[in-house]
Order: sequence, then structure tokens, then C-alpha cells
Amino acid sequence: MPSAGLIIVGGGGHATVVAEAAALSERTLIGYFDDSESPALDIWPAAMRSAGPQWAAIRPIRLGRLEEAMGTLVAAGAEGRGWVLGIGDLALRRAILHRLAAAPAAGPPVVHPHASVSPTATLGRGVFVGPRAVVHARARVEAHAIINTGAIVEHDCVVGENAHIAPGAAMGGGVTIGPDALVGIGARIVPTLSIGRGVVVGAGAVVVRNVAPGEVVVGVPARTQSN
Ligand SMILES: CC(C)(COP(=O)(O)OP(=O)(O)OC[C@H]1O[C@@H](n2cnc3c(N)ncnc32)[C@H](O)[C@@H]1OP(=O)(O)O)[C@@H](O)C(=O)NCCC(=O)NCCS
Repeated sequence: MPSAGLIIVGGGGHATVVAEAAALSERTLIGYFDDSESPALDIWPAAMRSAGPQWAAIRPIRLGRLEEAMGTLVAAGAEGRGWVLGIGDLALRRAILHRLAAAPAAGPPVVHPHASVSPTATLGRGVFVGPRAVVHARARVEAHAIINTGAIVEHDCVVGENAHIAPGAAMGGGVTIGPDALVGIGARIVPTLSIGRGVVVGAGAVVVRNVAPGEVVVGVPARTQSN
């Protein structure tokens, strides 16, 4: 049975990915919000909307300003309704989270049906887990984090709020990722390491040491990026 509605905050590429996962897992989409100056034209092509009932609910409803979008959400009032960030850029996500501090809570996680999430793992509100991603035993993924396509979050990992584990990145068991950190495409992190708040791990890096907050590390083995 379709669940209560979801508002996607954002209208670009990542919003499309979240919308697709939501539709495939039979979440009902209320619409999406995008107040950028040149918003995406249509989150979902007409051809996909006519492809089956699970796609039909996806409409390019622009909800206008964020405050109006949240008004719609509150007016809807139903249990289980909520929002999820559909924006890739972590700094912009954090800015929107500040604006939404007083808004109703984010919705339950959006998990693509082809993701594998252990029954002993926990996912916070507003989390997105993409197709072929694995979140293994006792892992904890905090609110608004992104576990993107094919990423591996091994047992006992902690992924902080609004962190992004990019497509194909892999973390060994017991790794801790700080809030607002980005683990780039295809990066690897050996077991039990700690990656600080706001760290950027470059695409393809292999991290073999703890990384202090705010650092950018690249390469194999990963080292602080020299500018
Ligand atoms: C690490 C990163 C943040 C650096 O970005 P940047 O500061 O704009 O860096 P630049 O492109 O100016 O490159 C600076 C130098 O670092 C090198 N570099 C950049 N990214 C690198 C990487 N991932 N691994 C190794 N070296 C890298 C460049 O070759 C360049 O070297 P040079 O000065 O010898 O020519 C970025 O390249 C990256 O890997 N981001 C991850 C993106 C990602 O996975 N996003 C997820 C989307 S779903």
C-alpha cells in the first residue's frame, strides 16, 4: 500500500534519483520544491509518468518557496508525511537544513528497493540509500546522509548527519564518518578509521589513517591535498 506523502527538496539530478527510489518503493510523492533562479524544468519526463501506476504520482509540482512547501506539508498533517533532501551539494544541503530547523521532521528514509539494508542497521530520518548500496549489520546512518549507488557501509560503521558516501565508495567495518563529510566516488576506507566532520575524501582515494575535520585527502594512500 502506498505510504503517506513525501516532498523532495530540490529539483535537479539527485532529486530525480530520490524520486525514482521513492516511486519504486511505493512512496507517494506530493511534489518537489525548487526555488533556485533557474529551476529544473521537469523532475520527471512525461514518458515515465505514463509508464505505470508507480510513476503516475510523480508530477512536476513546483511548490514554490520552501516556506510554502512546508506549509503544504503541515496542512497535509498525516502521520508519516515528510520531506527528504534531493540536493547533491553538501554545503547547500546544510544551508537548507538550517532553514528547515523549525519545520516538521524529515520523512522516513528513502531506500531504493535494490539496496540491501541489514535488519540490525539503523537509518535516520531523511536518509537516502541508492540502488545496490549495502548497509551492513549494526551500521548506523544518521539523518539526511546519502548512501549512494553501490556504496558499501560495512558492519558497525557510523555515517554522520548529512554525510555523503558517493557511488561505489566502500568503508570497512567500524569506520566512523563525521557529519557533512564527502567520501568521493570509488574511495576506500580501511576498517575502524575515523573521518572527521566536513572532510572530503577525493574520488578513488584509499584512506589508511584517520582524517582530521575539514581536511581534503586524495590519492593512494590518501594524503592531504596540497594546493
Ligand atoms: C578531491 C577533489 C575535491 C579536489 O577538487 P579541487 O579542489 O577542485 O581540485 P582540482 O580539480 O583543482 O585539482 C587539484 C589537484 O588535485 C588533483 N586531484 C583532484 N582530485 C583528485 C583525486 N580524486 N585523486 C587524486 N588527485 C586529485 C588534480 O589532479 C590536481 O593536481 P595538479 O595540481 O597536480 O594538477 C575532487 O577532485 C574530488 O575527487 N571530488 C570528489 C567528487 C565526488 O566523488 N563527488 C560525488 C558525486 S556523486
